[in-house]
Amino acid sequence: MKQIQCRIAGLLMALVAAGMLAACDGQEPEAQKEKILPPETGQDEAVKIGFSMDTLKEERWLKDRDLFRQAAEKLDAEVEIAAANGDDALQIAQAEAMIQGGIDVLVIVPHNAEATAAIVHKAHEAGIKVIAYDRLVKNADVDLYVSFDNEQVGELQARAILDAVPKGNYAYIGGAPTDNNVHLIKKGVLNVLQPAIDRGDIQIVYDEWTDDWAPENAQHNMAEALRANGNQIDAVIAANDATAGGAIKALAAQGMNGEIPVAGQDAELAAAQRIVAGTQTMTVYKPIQNLTAQVAELAVQLAKGEEVMTSVSVNNGKTEVPSILLAPTAVNAENLENTVIADGFHSKEEVYQELKK
Ligand code: GAL
Repeated sequence: MKQIQCRIAGLLMALVAAGMLAACDGQEPEAQKEKILPPETGQDEAVKIGFSMDTLKEERWLKDRDLFRQAAEKLDAEVEIAAANGDDALQIAQAEAMIQGGIDVLVIVPHNAEATAAIVHKAHEAGIKVIAYDRLVKNADVDLYVSFDNEQVGELQARAILDAVPKGNYAYIGGAPTDNNVHLIKKGVLNVLQPAIDRGDIQIVYDEWTDDWAPENAQHNMAEALRANGNQIDAVIAANDATAGGAIKALAAQGMNGEIPVAGQDAELAAAQRIVAGTQTMTVYKPIQNLTAQVAELAVQLAKGEEVMTSVSVNNGKTEVPSILLAPTAVNAENLENTVIADGFHSKEEVYQELKK
């Protein structure tokens, strides 16, 4: 089969060289050649996917890694996975090695939305398409962006906390500013809170990003928020469960944990345990199994040169990136069982084990 394709390709090239096609539309032979033959994967060869990850530090990324490998292998694709531990230079080097190693398509979770633009450029030079996974790469010709609707994540968080605290002082514990998601999440939070702010019902008395999404940085920031406001904080919105966990530690140091509503994201096990224990109000559940299944399928399609249709696009500062945004779900003590537990994201035993101690 491969041989036939080469022969057909060779034939086509010869045709192009002979200017046959040029005669049809009057273009220079050179241009013609390029357009006709993208380096698609041979039908009989397994598609090789490169999965370049920022980190495995948060619980969810371990799930992303394992579920993505399973989903891709179910499609008979090979997967090469590398995690850069939050190191931009390492992520670029790892992706370059994958490109030189012969991947057919690159799936990337950028640590730094800007710095990874260089990787997209390199991949395209090698004729390899790029899917931005969960986080957008900025200012580059990304072929596809697949994530959860991050603005909706922020809206779900703010709605839950505003229901619990319609008036008072809020602390906002944002995520890592290098991550494009944090700006979308915060926009969603303000979509919901702004009217209450304008009415003077609530004040955001503290608002800081958390470098590298580190729980210890979030704990430090929350302690600073409490100190600067004489502990007069009535609600906390944290960009994910890891930072919510840090903030709750700072609240506990002041004997305030369980008294102040706190929002998080990711439905981490520790967060689910805090929700049933009453020290965290809610989290946002993003069924990773849906994301990995979709991206694995799309990656194989792109590697085979098939066209992918999307219903929305997201502007990344350079282009309107064709996008697929999946729906997140707000989770609290009431619906934890028929969402996170029902899906097998965590088992009931795991979630309630802390309460049994
Ligand atoms: C975000 C992601 C969140 C969160 C965070 C920290 O981009 O959407 O789910 O986990 O990264 O890694």
